[in-house]
Amino acid sequence: MSQRIKAAITAVEGYVPDYILTNKELESLIETSDEWITTRTGIKERRILKEPGLGTSDMGAAAVKKLLEKNNIDPLEVDLIICGTITPDMVFPATACLIADKVGAKNAFGYDLGAACSSFIYALVTGQKFIESGTHKKVVVCGFDKMSSIINYEDRTTCIIFGDGGGAVLLEPTEGENYIVDSILQADGSGVVHLHQKAGGSKMPPSHRSIDERLHYVYQEGQSVFKFAVTNMADVSAEIMERNNLTSDDVAWLVPHQANKRIIDATARRMGVSDDKVMLNIHKYGNTTSGTIPLLLWEYEQKMKKGDNIIISAFGGGFTWGSIYLKWAY
Ligand code: UT7
Repeated sequence: MSQRIKAAITAVEGYVPDYILTNKELESLIETSDEWITTRTGIKERRILKEPGLGTSDMGAAAVKKLLEKNNIDPLEVDLIICGTITPDMVFPATACLIADKVGAKNAFGYDLGAACSSFIYALVTGQKFIESGTHKKVVVCGFDKMSSIINYEDRTTCIIFGDGGGAVLLEPTEGENYIVDSILQADGSGVVHLHQKAGGSKMPPSHRSIDERLHYVYQEGQSVFKFAVTNMADVSAEIMERNNLTSDDVAWLVPHQANKRIIDATARRMGVSDDKVMLNIHKYGNTTSGTIPLLLWEYEQKMKKGDNIIISAFGGGFTWGSIYLKWAY
């Protein structure tokens, strides 16, 4: 017997800081060029949360507050906040708890979910299950990162890619036809060698040495990650289409993690989806890690139509990757 209660995205909101770090400014910091960055990644600029003392929860709270306000939802009605992030304000408590406090969601419980660039899709599926079980009725799923807090602005192979920002969606139960239909989530921890942050965790707590050797920053072997990302993001997107009998004509939008325009193009090609159906904002925000997918949904909200078949895909550190098929609900 199929499950009666399904989970639908019923609202979306995003947040990006005001400060724009352009390729031109990066040209003055490191040996690079606008031309190299644009052709290799598709990125023209990214946003940076510059104000001292602000963290991921401040971006999250700004978006969640707006999300609730514009949909006339009393913060006390929120049951659960899940925050996908790899740059929490602090090791503990969870950024989700800080967001809940800042927006007055006093009846909500919450926790963070860290799956690097796949954090938001993992969190969305987790939230979906709470709704489908019937135990929770208003679940806020966030994806936010302040990547500038873990980027070495002397490392030209990483600092050109990442930016700060993110977004949040509201999940609610529906008995209608438009809901989160299917998902494939995967992980391969052996990918750690190619993409990680060496220090700051329990394996290597902060020390003078870890600071001196700059081990608190993102370490990425770009070419290796690129190869895994292209293959896995394309394969998992094709797989979710196949098992739901979707042709490229059926797909209204592809919502791909924004890591590199070339990875996005390869995924769309494998799915047979034309460029006009591919959501894109990497040129404006770069890779915001947990933030890319909700930021896309926020920016394309007015273009999506009720009933649209949406395929979301992501790949990131872990390695983690996956795809979600949903029908847009409003
Ligand atoms: O979201 C999480 C998952 N992450 C990803 O999906 C990222 C996947 N990887 C990538 O997007 C790409 O590998 C990068 C954008 C990181 C790098 O692009 P690439 O085409 O793989 O470049 P590369 O690392 O092979 O480097 C090519 C050349 C090298 O010079 P030589 O050795 O050929 O002389 C680099 O030193 O480009 C050089 N280079 C740069 N030149 C100008 C590397 N970074 C820069 C730079 N500006 N910023």
